[in-house]
Order: sequence, then C-alpha cells, then structure tokens
Amino acid sequence: FEYDLLVVGSANADLVVAVERRPGAGETVLGSDLALHPGGKGANQAVAAARLGARTALLARVGDDAHGRLLLDSQRAAGVDTSGVLVGGAPTGVALITVDPSGDNSIVVSPGANGRLTPDDIRAASALITASRVVSTQLEIPLETVEELVRGLRPGTRFVLNPSPPQELPAAVLAVCDPLIVNEHEARVVLGADAGTTPEEWAGALLALGPRSVVVTLGDEGALVADASGTARVPAVKVTAVDTTGAGDSFTAALAWRLGAGGSLTASAAYAARVGAVAVTRQGAQASFPTAEEVAAV
Ligand code: RIB
Ligand code: NA
Repeated sequence: FEYDLLVVGSANADLVVAVERRPGAGETVLGSDLALHPGGKGANQAVAAARLGARTALLARVGDDAHGRLLLDSQRAAGVDTSGVLVGGAPTGVALITVDPSGDNSIVVSPGANGRLTPDDIRAASALITASRVVSTQLEIPLETVEELVRGLRPGTRFVLNPSPPQELPAAVLAVCDPLIVNEHEARVVLGADAGTTPEEWAGALLALGPRSVVVTLGDEGALVADASGTARVPAVKVTAVDTTGAGDSFTAALAWRLGAGGSLTASAAYAARVGAVAVTRQGAQASFPTAEEVAAV
C-alpha cells in the first residue's frame, strides 16, 4: 500500500471565538478576537495521522478561495498527499465555533464545497482508494458519497467511520465499519429509540446493527471498545482541557492508523486516547495535534 490512511471527508475554515458563556435565543454576548484555523473533521483527521508519521492522503473538496488555500497549505505542511483534494464548485466549508472557559465547543457548519463531494468524485478517485490500507470518513459530506465509498471498497481494505454529525445509517454502511467510532450523542442518534443507558449497552446495541467493531468515546472517562471477542474499557489520560476542538478527530485518525499497523483494538484505542489528550491541552484543532514523540512523552 502506498498510503497507511486515506481520509475521505470535510475541510472547513474554522472561525473561532472564545466566550464566557453561549448566548440564548435573542441574546447577544461579546467574545474574544476572531481566530481563523484550518479545520473540518476530514482535514483534521488527515493532519493528525500525518503528524504521527502515517503516510496519509486526503480526498475532499474545497472552494477556489482563500479558505481553500489555507486548508491545502496546512495539509501540505503536515505532509499529507493532497492529489485527491478537488477545488471549486462552491465556497470552502466554514465552521462557526464558540469555545467556553471549560474548553468545550459548539459548532455550526456551513458545508459549502464539502456538500459537492459527489459519488462521481469517489469513482474518479478509485486509484487512491485502492492504494490505501485504511479508509476513514465522517458525515460532513453527503451520505450518498459515503455509500459510494463503501460500495467501492476492496475486500481487505479497513473502513473506519465516525458518524459526525450523526444520523441513522444504512445497513450497508454499518456492515463494513471496523470500527464505528461514536461518542454518547452519536451513539444515541445512530441507535434511535432503543439506545439503552450505559456505554456497555450502547456498544452491544451498536454491534447488533452490524459493525465488526465499535468504539464509544467517553470524554474524560476514556473509551469502551467492543467486538465479537468482548468489550474492554480504555482509561482516560488526565489532562486539563483548554480547547477540545478536533480532539475526537485526532483520536479517530490515531486509532485508524494503529489498527492498520496491526495493533489490537484495545491497544490502538489506548494510544489514540493519549493523542486526543495532548490535543485538548492546546488551542485550535490541527494546530493542537501531537507528533509521535510528543505522544511518547505523555
Ligand atoms: O471536529 C472538529 C471540527 O468540526 C472542526 O474543525 C470544524 O471544522 C467541524 O468540522
Ligand atoms: Na485542541
């Protein structure tokens, strides 16, 4: 394989304002100076994996505009192969982000060009897909595009999905996830009414929908991994959060890469938890992702 990881997904310009608290309906609050960062769940995953040392490519669509150039520059600076990044069709996606004093964020995404990443674009990129050991994606691109990606996978290519933002998923997509990676909110949406109440129940119910494996991330309580051989808890790494934006993306990327390298689900998730822990201690998404040396020091 030429690539350890191909990330198919979104690229957004993140417009970030720190606030003391979020406004309610009809309310105005003053925040910090505006920060502009390269983001998007797909672009974040690609940078996170490349910074750890994975041979990484990104398949995405950005606009022919300044935000698109910002995103391409950050991918290239991290060493990501951008031959699969398409340009034009709509303005680059934008994420409007507020970060509160606890480091938690709220995000509104305007998909822009991400919404124009089509099934045809996937078919045209079949060489890139075939050249990759692991393929990961999220749901900031059209679901029909994800469905086409799944149809085109070769047997033996590992597929990793973080269904964010969440929606109910077709059986054909669920069946190839190895793993499906969800937080509590995503688990509840994917499961619908019968979610259950404990992480063990969510994991069991999700496995019953067809994925080969499931990872439930639990914030500062670590993660739960589950597959046919059973379930295991992965402890959290204790840190003080400054900005959690993109930490989940770095977790997913690290997990996908370690699994592709032959790691067990538990060991790969434990490594990914350390990557995410470093990311939450720093501002921004991509800017906060660690190198392998920095992870080793945690
Ligand atoms: O997961 C974090 C990302 O979500 C941000 O970078 C933002 O662009 C949104 O896609
Ligand atoms: Na961060």
